Amino acid sequence: MREYYLERLSGERLRQCYELAHPRLKQYLEAEIKFVLRQLESSDTVLELGCGYGRVTARLTEVAKRAVGIDNAPASIELACHLFGANSRCEFCEMDALNLAFDELTFDKVVCAQNGICAFGVDRESLFRQALRVARPGGRLVFSTYAAGFWEERLRWFETQAAAGLVGAIDYARTGNGEIVCMDGFRTGLLSPNSFQSLCCELGLKAEVTEVDGSSVFCTIVVPEVA
Ligand SMILES: C[S@@+](CC[C@H](N)C(=O)[O-])C[C@H]1O[C@@H](n2cnc3c(N)ncnc32)[C@H](O)[C@@H]1O
Repeated sequence: MREYYLERLSGERLRQCYELAHPRLKQYLEAEIKFVLRQLESSDTVLELGCGYGRVTARLTEVAKRAVGIDNAPASIELACHLFGANSRCEFCEMDALNLAFDELTFDKVVCAQNGICAFGVDRESLFRQALRVARPGGRLVFSTYAAGFWEERLRWFETQAAAGLVGAIDYARTGNGEIVCMDGFRTGLLSPNSFQSLCCELGLKAEVTEVDGSSVFCTIVVPEVA
């Protein structure tokens, strides 16, 4: 999916996806942000992985001292800087989540919201290891995916995006079991709570997996002293 976001779903096109969302979808997006904000403290420096045009990153400074958003799509980072550059507590960098150019122990919290864990289409264990590397002991990793029960609302959102020409038409023959597949190669799945737990277990991490608003599932991990 890396190429798809880079070539077809970045900058203004990505922003449109969120702007055309129906009210229940907007409720989900807001509930996600509220959940993340509850994990933060005022002294925190926070990293958001796959920040897109900065929609969530900018909100993190409602609580945190500083927020850094990274995304590998140049058009999205450019738009984030344009929209939120005036916020001196926010910073955006073009960067790959699997190759973070930050020193170890730089961040108090590492956030990966809006199903980034699936949307990136990368090896999830490597993604967690990168997040752990830059996080401070006692800090937190906060990752989210969709709740299985939110299927109809997700489908409706992607139908609207397809009708607006932002993604291809939904390929109903291949869509199901939590995954939406479009005719142009776009696909978006989810991670079950058990898969989140198994992933963390393989990495020797203790995770708390919580459903929020009937729409998302969050996996929060307190970063151990020796990760
Ligand atoms: C579903 S969008 C979410 C955007 C943003 N988190 C939000 O909620 O508004 C996924 C984002 O991840 C970015 N992305 C995909 N693969 C990535 C990678 N390997 N490293 C960094 N960003 C990536 C895409 O460019 C896209 O902006």
